[in-house]
Amino acid sequence: MNTALEPAHEPAPVTAEAPSNIAFIKYWGARDLETPVPFNRSLSMTLDACRSICSASPLGDGKEDEIVWVEDPAAGRSAASAEAPPSFVERTRRHLDRLREWSQGTAASYSGGFRIATGNTFPSAAGIASSASGFTALTLAVAAAMGFDLPPRMLSALSRSSGSGSAARSAYGGYVEWPDGESNAAVQVLDEDTWPLCDVVAVVETAAKKVSSRDGHRLAVTSPYFAPRLAGLGGRLERVRNALRQRDFEALGSAVEEEGIDLHLIAMSSRPPVYYWSPGTIEVLAAVRDLRADGIAAYATMDAGANVHVICQPADESRVAERLETLGSVERVLRDRTGGPPAWRGGAEL
Ligand code: PMV
Repeated sequence: MNTALEPAHEPAPVTAEAPSNIAFIKYWGARDLETPVPFNRSLSMTLDACRSICSASPLGDGKEDEIVWVEDPAAGRSAASAEAPPSFVERTRRHLDRLREWSQGTAASYSGGFRIATGNTFPSAAGIASSASGFTALTLAVAAAMGFDLPPRMLSALSRSSGSGSAARSAYGGYVEWPDGESNAAVQVLDEDTWPLCDVVAVVETAAKKVSSRDGHRLAVTSPYFAPRLAGLGGRLERVRNALRQRDFEALGSAVEEEGIDLHLIAMSSRPPVYYWSPGTIEVLAAVRDLRADGIAAYATMDAGANVHVICQPADESRVAERLETLGSVERVLRDRTGGPPAWRGGAEL
């Protein structure tokens, strides 16, 4: 995969930013969790405000990796840093090893240590794909610090090799599809300017979820509804693709909301069952139905968490956000929209 890639510049500290994404058709269940190889194709909208920022500085040969967690990375150098959770350090180190190994097949092999400082602009592990933006920012920053300007397909494939499948889709802006089977990179379906939509996130839970998406993927095949889900998913994906092509928001929204429920139907009927919802999730879902009854086109979807992503058109964003803010179980409302691709720049900002 990497043999043709030449380093574009000398190794140096860089800072990368990568967006999270919200899946309209979910990746849930894997034939192989390590690579990973999904059972089904997935399609997401790239976000704008929910992103990860990562600075990577090459430390040179024989140096240990240093991994720093940054609480509010948008504040730059003045941001408070904290001790990174051990599981996060472990996953980051393993991905650094993978990227060093990858570089051995290139003209600029690098086997030294890195200082990595990274954080998210949104609450982690709460149904907003922090692993997607986190591993994409890490991959982009580390490859650029080694001297490579990765093309998106390669960024997608390398980010996903972290084990986070949704990271494959954060390499592009707009609307992005990740094929199933062995195919290892995602492709852009529509760019971010063609059809900007809003994702109003009702945060009902900020604590880390009790069951990781990795365990949810592993258990998915134990649901008696998993095979019927896969059998019907191609049709739902086609509805989403057509709605994107025709900019038909009602058609898009109804397919997206069905799919959001379907993921949780599989999770709740897995053996043992996995419940990501909280009472607040139900309250928000009811409010979204009420919004529609009042003539506002808003549709809900949830990833592996309790928080609800309410998808709507820009003209309705304020009314949707204001309604969600009135709900007792909603701690805060994040307003996000269709975002562009990841990017990097020279210098360690964190
Ligand atoms: O990328 P992972 O392994 O964290 O799995 C993501 C799973 C969902 O967010 C629930 C669905 C998706 O396609 O993003």
